[in-house]
Amino acid sequence: MPTAAVDSHMGVARTLKALRARVDNWRNSGLSVAFAPTMGALHDGHLSLVKRALSLADRTVVSIFVNPRQFAAHEDLGSYPRTEARDLELLQKAGCHLAYIPDPVEMYPAGYQTSVSVEGLSQGLCGASRPHFFGGVATVVCKLLNQCRPNVAIFGEKDFQQLAIIKRMVRDLDLGVDIVGAPIVREKDGLAMSSRNVYLNEDERLLAGRLNGVLAETAAALGRGEAASIAVRDGRTKLEAAGFTAIDYFEVRDSAELALAPDGPIERESRVFAAVIVGRTRLIDNWAVPAPLNP
Ligand code: PAJ
Repeated sequence: MPTAAVDSHMGVARTLKALRARVDNWRNSGLSVAFAPTMGALHDGHLSLVKRALSLADRTVVSIFVNPRQFAAHEDLGSYPRTEARDLELLQKAGCHLAYIPDPVEMYPAGYQTSVSVEGLSQGLCGASRPHFFGGVATVVCKLLNQCRPNVAIFGEKDFQQLAIIKRMVRDLDLGVDIVGAPIVREKDGLAMSSRNVYLNEDERLLAGRLNGVLAETAAALGRGEAASIAVRDGRTKLEAAGFTAIDYFEVRDSAELALAPDGPIERESRVFAAVIVGRTRLIDNWAVPAPLNP
């Protein structure tokens, strides 16, 4: 779709100056602004954030930026799906008011030196196998929030650790924006939607669809009062039986501090977290332990 047609309905800002002009104008007119950052290759999970944003504020901004600082050298920065024309169409159809597509050189100009790290929450789960990752995420999200200066920003629970880290960063650095979490949007078989699912071949896609069932069963067992160690052991056995050969982690943690659940029945609001590698694709997902936790 030609950019001009998109521009006539939805604004597209490619520089910080253009973003600020639009957002300042809205704020000066008394309009509130919601913001949802993305790396593009949009799917219904992203669009659910747009919908939520539209319900929370007068104007919605979505950024598309494949952030080089959250990819390690061996990861998929070069092959990450980039579908800008389609993304703009989807955003416009969803009712988004402004797409912000900054240039990497403007985001990280020569001489750029600053990074943000949220220390404790970044340690376990994805932080253990991707040590560069959350520093890159916190840095870019901090910059994007400062650039857009929204009233509220929306993040998916699909990336639950990321959501927790951003909430903590906003609190610790007094960024003055409300952070709202949105539920995970899933495919028909329950696979959590992800831009990286396009990497899966047919067999891998079938297997990937079985991860969420094991998470749900494990969460249900914990909800019935089963001890964490038993539920996790059984869940791992089920994953292996289903054909997952590379399990990065499969753990139960509390939802606020992401601390590993002590053994025994779960007493705090918790989630089961998993990361598995299927072919060349790393999948993550999580499932809330249903209340009552310990009837
Ligand atoms: P990306 O993977 O594009 O995701 C952008 C936002 O969409 C995140 O808040 C993510 O949690 C949410 N999301 C992705 N899949 C979802 C699903 N199936 N259901 C609900 N929400 C979903 O996450 C990032 O980009 C980046 O790390 C970013 C925050 C943009 C910083 O670069």
